[in-house]
Amino acid sequence: MLQGKRILLIIGGGIAAYKSLELIREIRRAGGSATPVLTAGGRQFVTPLSAGALAETKAYTDLFDLTDEAEMGHIQLSRAADLLVVCPATADLLAKMAAGLADDLATTLLLATDKPVLAAPAMNVRMWGHAATVANVATLRSRGVTVLEPDVGPMACGEYGPGRLPEVARMVEAIAAQFAEQTLQGRHILVTAGPTHEPIDPVRYIANRSSGKQGYAIAAALRRLGARVTLVSGPVDLPTPPGVTRVDVETAKQMAAAVEAALPADAAVMVAAVADWSVETAGAKIKKGAGGPPTLELRENPDILATLSRHPRRPKLVVGFAAETNDVIEHAKAKLAKKGCDLIVANDVSGDVMGGDRNLVHLVSASGVETLPEAPKDEVARQLAQHVAGLLNG
Ligand code: CTP
Repeated sequence: MLQGKRILLIIGGGIAAYKSLELIREIRRAGGSATPVLTAGGRQFVTPLSAGALAETKAYTDLFDLTDEAEMGHIQLSRAADLLVVCPATADLLAKMAAGLADDLATTLLLATDKPVLAAPAMNVRMWGHAATVANVATLRSRGVTVLEPDVGPMACGEYGPGRLPEVARMVEAIAAQFAEQTLQGRHILVTAGPTHEPIDPVRYIANRSSGKQGYAIAAALRRLGARVTLVSGPVDLPTPPGVTRVDVETAKQMAAAVEAALPADAAVMVAAVADWSVETAGAKIKKGAGGPPTLELRENPDILATLSRHPRRPKLVVGFAAETNDVIEHAKAKLAKKGCDLIVANDVSGDVMGGDRNLVHLVSASGVETLPEAPKDEVARQLAQHVAGLLNG
């Protein structure tokens, strides 16, 4: 997500500063690099040694450190980065940024830079709500600084409200969004993911091995390109991707209703492994009886993808998935025709794809077959999101 991106990470003085260390790790895990700069306040909470060790680079602190100036002046330091991130952005730092003060290394870098700036605020709820901070944030945003909304919750000071540093995953998403072209800005995209569970009785159900990982990765990747994403999800054990609206369902029928309720949409990407059959559900737990094992009466579930493809409010682009164990391309071509969608993403699930972290998919459409390289599900999602953007934008 951040391959080759250089982040200059300004660490302000607040109790949330320790999370900046986790942010360094996550930036690097996503392929980027982080150069830490600690304010005097920041150094009260984390040390340059720990920030530098995690970043595997020098952590900067002083404006008048001559060695720093000789090695790399503050102007170059701010311009060698692709993005400046302020984490945590305290009320004091936001005020200094808004006023254009430059009385230490961090604020001087912020004033000297010609690169985008993203600030992740963290402060007491009253400080966040104070008219001075509200005005400072408005000023910074009007100048193009991305100021994230803080999280709402219990605070270190014992109060409750907005002011908590955003979760690290949300900060990483916001950083990645700075680099992604917002090619899906203004679009609404519907994604289904995960399995469905079809109850047999109050304690048993029919399910499949879908983990939801590929669908969730696709929802996140579409969001990163600026789309408003509604994710209709079967039962999975995954966190909601930042910025995505999630609707939880259990059965195929509920998924069909949630898809209908989410319309209109510009595109739909139906990744869910919808159960093909449901059972006439028993009201009470089925007991073992003298008559031997019960016979389950299966009924065909609604085909959500086929219904959507023929819907009066059909999205401009409808994408289906085909999980196959043999003759992948042939089955995908047949599904494309049968279900009336624009594109089928076909994969071979005879191995450990279901529940695994990697995938190899073929894009099957009227214009032919394109095979994406075998890759982690996140990377497959990124490429598919770009493909969707290309098709939507003509
Ligand atoms: N799908 C759907 N509703 C269903 C079944 C499938 O919307 N009741 C969608 C899936 O989300 C996927 C596509 O249809 O995008 C293909 O799903 P798949 O399970 O591979 O196909 P089936 O139609 O179930 O065909 P089969 O089981 O015979 O392979």
